[in-house]
Amino acid sequence: MCGIVAYIGRKQAKPILLEGLKRLEYRGYDSAGIAILNGSIKVAKAVGRVSVLEELVDRQGGFEGSLGIAHTRWATHGGVTDRNAHPHCDDPKLGHGIALIHNGIIENYSVLKKYLEEKGHSFSSETDTEVLAHLIGELYRGDLEKAVQAALREVTGAYAIAVVCNKEPDVLVVARKGSPLMVGVGKDEYIVASDQSAIVAHTTQAFTLQDYTVAKLTRDSFQTNTVDNVPVTAEVRELEYDLGQIELGTFDHYMLKEIYEQPHALRMSMKGRIDLRAGQIVLGGVSTFARELARARRIVFVGQGTALHAGMVAEYVMEDLAKIPTDVDFASEFRYRNPMVEEGTVVVAISQSGETADTLAALQEAKQRGALALGLVNVVGSSISRETDAGIYLRVGPEIGVASTKAFLGQVAVATMLALFIGRRRFLSADYVRELLEAMHRIPDHIEKVLQQSDEIKKATAKYIDRENWLFLGRGYNYPVALEGALKLKEISYIHAEGMPAAEMKHGPIALIDNGMPVVFLATRNSQYEKVLSNIEEVRSRGGHVIAVATEGDESIRKHVQEVFWVPDVPEPLQPMLTVVPLQLLAYHAAVMRGKDVDKPRNLAKSVTVE
Ligand code: M6R
Repeated sequence: MCGIVAYIGRKQAKPILLEGLKRLEYRGYDSAGIAILNGSIKVAKAVGRVSVLEELVDRQGGFEGSLGIAHTRWATHGGVTDRNAHPHCDDPKLGHGIALIHNGIIENYSVLKKYLEEKGHSFSSETDTEVLAHLIGELYRGDLEKAVQAALREVTGAYAIAVVCNKEPDVLVVARKGSPLMVGVGKDEYIVASDQSAIVAHTTQAFTLQDYTVAKLTRDSFQTNTVDNVPVTAEVRELEYDLGQIELGTFDHYMLKEIYEQPHALRMSMKGRIDLRAGQIVLGGVSTFARELARARRIVFVGQGTALHAGMVAEYVMEDLAKIPTDVDFASEFRYRNPMVEEGTVVVAISQSGETADTLAALQEAKQRGALALGLVNVVGSSISRETDAGIYLRVGPEIGVASTKAFLGQVAVATMLALFIGRRRFLSADYVRELLEAMHRIPDHIEKVLQQSDEIKKATAKYIDRENWLFLGRGYNYPVALEGALKLKEISYIHAEGMPAAEMKHGPIALIDNGMPVVFLATRNSQYEKVLSNIEEVRSRGGHVIAVATEGDESIRKHVQEVFWVPDVPEPLQPMLTVVPLQLLAYHAAVMRGKDVDKPRNLAKSVTVE
């Protein structure tokens, strides 16, 4: 969603803010804006990428000053226009010169707007954010922090905000509830941002602002209070990654970089957690709940998008290895469905960012209903990770590409480790666990081999690049991978793609198949291999062109398919960690061939922090 960056210190704010915006651009990129305080407030806004704003700021000149705020927008209320871009200011008639940036949604904005209009305010945008800026202006009595606190007491919804006021040139006020916000603590300076990628270039010390907390920052001090003005302590900690990890390096796109990082990411995710000799899994994050997990009556995975697909793999692996009844649900549906949470239910939220609004809310709902709440999350200290009773971090490193790749791998790997952790405590033998762990330990090397086929995958993709409709089919463990392959293709290349269980095709979608339609089959050697071959024949006999992901050495499959990508042979529960990789590469190459912006696909944002 939107990206926030703000600076107060002794350096020029403009370059720090613009550089921060570029690093946060993956969060939202409809439009961008900046405000710098220097005697007056100088504001610039532009529809489009941060580079458009940068040109505008350079053309206009006069953005000097060491206090400022900046924003990348992902539109929620109001179209993508210059006027709706942030920062928004309070009513100019009041003459306070307040400017504000916001990530989130002010749900009661229309009531507040009506109240303010009755008081004579007029608005220049359609946004909920401008209403908050006006409300702060209306309540301002010479103390920005107090005005922000008073305004936030009237607000329902989610927010991360940064506010400046022309009458207080040495004060930056920031606050959050529900939307992420971090404060980087430097020497005589603070850099506030939606996530650490905009902070790490300046300092490695930071604190995460807690919900309902307001921070007042000056150039050399800060204080944090609740919206009701009760002091709270901010815990400054070392950030867990450095600039090198978020640089593009020699890759053309973050997505490609992250696809290639997968062997390393998986090694990091397994490091210290796999004890081959003992045939055991060591999961410090959930060990205090080992008994509850082993006795769980039901496990429910919740997530959205790619994380949901990982949850679907988790459902298979949990029932297969831990033998606990398991469900998976869209977090957005779970939370509003009046879900049954009986005694012994464990709800596991899966999320790369740890900030997805629906997943967070589903977890809170589950907790309220008495479930044990676990999280499989990548971003350390994120909202979901703080809300859980216990959890396991993915440890795959920062993921910047909007299309999730290495996080999927990490989510599946961690879910598999969790299933083995529980299964071992129930009935799985040490020998069987050891066998699977040994196979899992070799997966990073196998992924390296799959990555070597990138050129062949590119050539095969090129043959079908003009086709507007694709199908992705798989069975069992490979069914969620089919969904993930389709999602990857549609989200970055804008090609229509559908994923489904291979057997489902006959119940309707087979009508779509015409001459030359590309149909991607996950056709690895496993318990359903023969059935998948039959489905392939059904497609072939209707003129479809089959692209198969198959097991190395299965030369006989060539006679059934037009294209084949190979993955090494591994036990069935581990196959998704390999079969997804060719599909990621296929989607990547398709998007590049079609000239799309791979890392910033239209209409999308990396982290969906509104419902
Ligand atoms: O940060 P999360 O894992 O909670 O994000 C969930 C989805 O928004 C995310 O996986 C999305 O579907 C990706 N763009 C898919 O590539």
